[in-house]
Parts: sequence; structure tokens; C-alpha cells
Amino acid sequence: MSPRKLSVVDLLTVGRKMCCSILVSKGFLVGFLLGIVATQFLAMLSVQTSPELFATEATSEQLKINTETTTTTVKTTTTTVLPNTLLKRRDRILCWVATSPKTHTRASLVKETWGKRCDKLLFMSSKQDGILPDAIVLPGNDTYDNLWGKTQEAAKYIYRHHLEEFDWFYKADDDTYAVIENLRHLLLPFNASAPLHLGFKYRNPEVKQGFHSGGPGYVLSREAIRRFVEIGLHFNENASSTLDATLQNGTLANTSSDRSDHNLCVPGPKGLEDFNMGKCMDKLNVTAADSRDDDSIERFLPWRLEDMICGHRKFKGSWFLRDWSFYPLKKDMECCSPYAVSFHYVKDYQLKVYEYLIYRLRLHH
Ligand SMILES: *[C@@H]1O[C@H](CO)[C@@H](O)[C@H](O)[C@H]1NC(C)=O
Ligand SMILES: *[C@@H]1O[C@H](CO)[C@@H](O)[C@H](O)[C@H]1NC(C)=O
Ligand SMILES: *[C@@H]1O[C@H](CO)[C@@H](O)[C@H](O)[C@H]1NC(C)=O
Ligand SMILES: *[C@@H]1O[C@H](CO)[C@@H](O)[C@H](O)[C@H]1NC(C)=O
Ligand SMILES: *[C@@H]1O[C@H](CO)[C@@H](O)[C@H](O)[C@H]1NC(C)=O
Ligand SMILES: *[C@@H]1O[C@H](CO)[C@@H](O)[C@H](O)[C@H]1NC(C)=O
Repeated sequence: MSPRKLSVVDLLTVGRKMCCSILVSKGFLVGFLLGIVATQFLAMLSVQTSPELFATEATSEQLKINTETTTTTVKTTTTTVLPNTLLKRRDRILCWVATSPKTHTRASLVKETWGKRCDKLLFMSSKQDGILPDAIVLPGNDTYDNLWGKTQEAAKYIYRHHLEEFDWFYKADDDTYAVIENLRHLLLPFNASAPLHLGFKYRNPEVKQGFHSGGPGYVLSREAIRRFVEIGLHFNENASSTLDATLQNGTLANTSSDRSDHNLCVPGPKGLEDFNMGKCMDKLNVTAADSRDDDSIERFLPWRLEDMICGHRKFKGSWFLRDWSFYPLKKDMECCSPYAVSFHYVKDYQLKVYEYLIYRLRLHH
């Protein structure tokens, strides 16, 4: 097994196999075994060089691997102390999912499937109901047209309530399926204090570094969120208490994003959300990093898997992907990284199909 082929998922798989074969139910032994594998893994991890954007120094925090095994009988949480030189803190990932009352059922499937692997999961909607009683209620109209407005409100909410608690902020839709272990692995060499964002990149003449497709989601570093909210949206922290009250009442907040003076980001709620975001990030000097794997294969997939594998080069409807993809797309099974982070246009029933294929299916050897 070459170093780049070894992922967190592999680690967990190895751990799981070991659990099964020797029928270990005691956490400490599993922890010990995982520790060995994790040590090898970290030793092989090649750390990239730009100190601005990458975490070059390992911290002295402990590496924590939370393994969630699919057989409920073996559930392990291990804390393994590793030598300083091999350590990297476990970054905290907040996921936020854009949804609306019409699709709360699908959102609740996200909660049952991939969403539970985020360190925190927030649903951004326009109201709470029996299906999604904990949805965050944001002001503004809940239409596709207003998605850009929703993203701005969501970012402000996150900035006010969770900025310091988390390192990375992953935005997804309720028809996204994400593999959080692989997202975590992708982010491992990066530094959340640097202005960064990652996702599936489209070319655009107005955004030289490209913009990230909204569907498979994109991830922003803490510093990227800070710049977006403080500079891009002119958000004044001191006004937050009145804003909070307005938000809780579910009425439209009179946000400063309506201002037209020195706007680095498109004001108002209208426009293409992902394009506006990309343009705004560019102006804020937030770097769009390369999220592809070591074989230059995409990890954020803007279409569902069957279309990525079979169709994206031929379908009439996928001209945009074909013509505007930042990096050349590959064919058939090469379309998609084995370390894929996310898929888009996933239908309600497919969320559990992905869940089964990724987390439950086992092979007899
Ligand atoms: C991350 O970047 C910040 C700011 O540039 C720097 O102070 C910090 O030491 C970096 N952290 C690591 C682990 O490299
Ligand atoms: C929301 O949409 C309704 C109907 O289209 C419209 O009457 C209302 O003014 C809109 N509200 C906002 C805040 O845009
Ligand atoms: C918020 O208020 C504090 C104390 O009143 C002040 O020092 C700070 O500059 C204010 N921040 C902004 C962004 O206005
Ligand atoms: C929110 O609603 C409460 C009770 O209905 C009201 O007392 C309060 O003034 C409202 N706040 C705002 C900012 O509208
Ligand atoms: C927003 O601000 C404008 C101008 O300051 C004001 O006319 C308008 O009534 C406000 N809207 C709301 C919903 O508070
Ligand atoms: C972005 O970088 C340019 C060039 O270094 C600089 O002029 C500009 O002020 C920066 N903008 C922000 C928002 O940091």
C-alpha cells in the first residue's frame, strides 16, 4: 500500500477488521491497534510547503480518532498519544445544510446519514416544523433565487455563534451526500487560520482563481468566514443583539449587505450563489486551493455518481460541467477520486443507498 492510498477510512477499516477477527470489545486494544496504524499513516503524510496556507508544525494535542463502526456492538472512541513530530490536531468541522420547508424530509435523511459525522450540523431554513424542529430560521425568502441571501445570513449566524469553536465550515445542500472522513483527510495538511476555500472548481473569466460549485458543497476556513462576514458583508458585531432578536422573530433583518458602497461582495440576496461567493472570495484574497487527489482526480463531485461515471461527457445537459470545469475531467471510473468528499443531485432514497455502499457493505476475502 503506497502512502497516498492510505486514508482515514482505511485506518478505520483496518481497525474494524481487526476488531472483528479477534472479537475485541475492549476499547483499549482497539485503540492500541488504531494507534499503530495511525502512527504509520501520519509518518507517511507528506506535508506541503507553503507555510502561509498549510499547517507545517504539528501541535502537541492528542490525535483523537472517533470510529463509528456500523455494527453497533463495537463502538470505540480512542485517544492515542503519539510522538510530537507525528501529531496533527483534530480539526473541528461544522457542516451547514441549506434547506427549505419543502425538503425538510430530505434534510432529516441527511441528519440520519452523513450529517451525523460532522462535529456540528446545522440546517438553515426559513422555518421550523415537526420534521426539522431544530432548523435555524433565517430571514429572507426561501427560493432558489434568494440562495445567495441565505448563504450570507447563514455565514453571519455562524460567525456570531460558532466561529471560535470550529476550524472549518462546510456548506452543503440537502441533496448532497458527503463523506466527512475524506473531507477531514483532505483538510489535514491545511491551516484553518489561513484564508482558504475548497470545492469543485469552475473556470470563469471574472474570477481568475475560479469559483466552487455550490451543489457538492464547499468548505471555508475560519479565516475565510471571518473575512466574508466582517469585510465582505460589513457585518458589525456590536449590532448582533438586535439582529439576533430580529432573526429569532423570523422577520427580515435589515442587513448591511444592502449597502452599495465599497462592496467586495455582490449586495442583496439575488444572483448565482456559488458564482457570487467565488467572486467575493477572490476579492477578499481567499485562496481557492486544489481539492483534487494525488492523481489529479476530483473529490468534490458536482453530479451524482452514476452521471459522473457514465454521463457527464455526453449528456446535453452537462455542457456547463464539460465546458467550464477548471481542471480537465476524466472518463468512466477515473471520474471520481476513491477519496471522494461529496456527491450532488442525490435523491432522497439515494442518501441511504450511498450510506449503505460506503459504510455498511463489507467484502469477504
Ligand atoms: C497557522 O497559521 C497561523 C497564521 O498564519 C500561524 O500563526 C500558525 O502558527 C499556523 N499554524 C500551524 C499549525 O502551522
Ligand atoms: C417574499 O416573496 C413574497 C412573494 O413572492 C413577496 O411578497 C415578499 O415581498 C418577499 N419577501 C422578501 C423579504 O423578499
Ligand atoms: C464594538 O464595540 C467595541 C466596544 O464598544 C469597540 O471597541 C469595537 O471597535 C466595536 N467593533 C466594531 C466592529 O464596531
Ligand atoms: C420579537 O418578538 C417579541 C415577542 O413577540 C417582541 O417582544 C420583540 O420586540 C420582537 N423583537 C424584534 C426585534 O422584533
Ligand atoms: C430597512 O432600512 C430601510 C432604510 O434604513 C428602512 O426604510 C426599512 O424600513 C428597513 N426595513 C426593515 C424590514 O426594517
Ligand atoms: C487583497 O490583496 C491585494 C493585493 O495584495 C490588496 O491590495 C487588497 O487590499 C487585499 N484585499 C483584502 C480585502 O484583503
